[in-house]
Amino acid sequence: MQMVLPESLQTQLQSYLFAQGTTPCAYVHSFGCQLNVSDGERIRGVLQQIGYTLTNHYEDADLILFNTCAVRGSAEDRLYGVLGNVKRYKRENPNLILVLCGCMASETHTAEFVRTHYPYVDILFGTASLSRFPKLLLEHFQGEKFAFDIGEYDDMYEGLSPSREHPFQASVPVMFGCNNFCTYCIVPYVRGRERSRKPDQIIREVRELIQHGYKEIMLLGQNVNSYGNDLDTSVTFAWLLQQIDEIPGDFVIRFLSSHPKDATPDLLDTILNEKKIGKHLHLPVQSGSDDVLRRMNRQYTTKKYLEIVDYLRSRNSDFSLTTDLIVGFPNETEIDFAGTLDLVRRVKYDNIYTFIYSKRRGTKAAEMEDKISSKEKHDRMEQLLLLQREVATEHYRRFLGRTLRVLVEGKSKRDGWLIGKDLAFIIVEFSGEESLIGTFVDVKVTKIHNWAVEGELQ
Ligand code: SAM
Ligand code: SF4
Ligand code: F3S
Repeated sequence: MQMVLPESLQTQLQSYLFAQGTTPCAYVHSFGCQLNVSDGERIRGVLQQIGYTLTNHYEDADLILFNTCAVRGSAEDRLYGVLGNVKRYKRENPNLILVLCGCMASETHTAEFVRTHYPYVDILFGTASLSRFPKLLLEHFQGEKFAFDIGEYDDMYEGLSPSREHPFQASVPVMFGCNNFCTYCIVPYVRGRERSRKPDQIIREVRELIQHGYKEIMLLGQNVNSYGNDLDTSVTFAWLLQQIDEIPGDFVIRFLSSHPKDATPDLLDTILNEKKIGKHLHLPVQSGSDDVLRRMNRQYTTKKYLEIVDYLRSRNSDFSLTTDLIVGFPNETEIDFAGTLDLVRRVKYDNIYTFIYSKRRGTKAAEMEDKISSKEKHDRMEQLLLLQREVATEHYRRFLGRTLRVLVEGKSKRDGWLIGKDLAFIIVEFSGEESLIGTFVDVKVTKIHNWAVEGELQ
């Protein structure tokens, strides 16, 4: 286990932190995917260990930390907008410490850009340097103007206890990094190669969460299906799921994301058969055109993808599928896009996550010629969303009159109503008491929407 915060470092930090005689307060915000949110929870844990209390309002904070995302240009623009807003607080309170970390902060060119254009950022560290954050904070206290470390990709940060944001849903990373180099994607460059956590560490963490009453365990990785490939034992993700399924307790197991090229029959059978695994698979397809898939380096064809879908549905006709789709990949033709629409009709997803292609510096696709206009990309996106609304409304009919087991997540926007997800990840709304939040309930479906179903508590 890594010694993240040796006693001597903690003592030195606290001599600066408590010099004013008050307890310092930190605000942490994570942009991007659930893996980043999970990193953010570990950073919150480190800050608490150092002596900070956590706040949800950055106006009150002595330390503001933004855990950034680089997956699309829009994520980066959002961060720069927020940095502009924070400048005012920095002017009013010169002791305020501003920290950037995460995927964007792992890019050398971003670190340089921040240093020259946002000189009021005090500390910057990459995804590989999370455990070195306390040391950077000390360097800042000791007078370093811009303490930064974008490091190498060896950091697994075992031993950092997360300060979880949610009381009954917990994310547990099973692996870090990605080996796939899809040509559009920045993730392998900012998160490094795949590193799987040791199975006993994962199982111990899940066991403790269940003992503390957690009801949903979300296992995370950029491609959980390749879990274990880098370990010297023969463990697989299917095996890991089976071990977790055996832990006593009433909870649901979910996971993100699964690369179709690594969806083995063993894994599919495990998902279909194990009791606590939601009967749902998030299987990002990205495009319904074989030519685009080849140029994306996805390493499967639509035929192979549909074989997986058909296998799951032949064993369980209700099986729920969701996906990610990119619209407007360089030179995506009308025919390519028609392939995506056909695939969405054929698979009948319960939900899709759609993105307009965003050029990422340093990726292979950034070198590809792209003649499609922005208007055309937006038009295609509109068509895709319209189609999905039709498909989902029709497909949700299978639930009408049936009773679903739902984990109640919180209050819905409708007064007196609650919202949750059934075991297959379907969003369910119903009227009920707030005391049900965090429990499993049975709801009989009475009405269908294009994004959810609604029903009556049984
Ligand atoms: N590892 C996951 C997988 O392959 O399924 C995906 C992780 S990525 C953080 C989430 C989604 O962002 C991808 O599935 C893809 O649809 C989208 N994405 C990634 N790079 C993108 C880009 N350059 N432009 C638009 N969307 C992108
Ligand atoms: Fe990006 Fe592809 Fe890796 Fe997913 S599998 S993180 S899309 S490179
Ligand atoms: Fe996630 Fe964004 Fe990084 S999607 S892995 S936080 S680039």
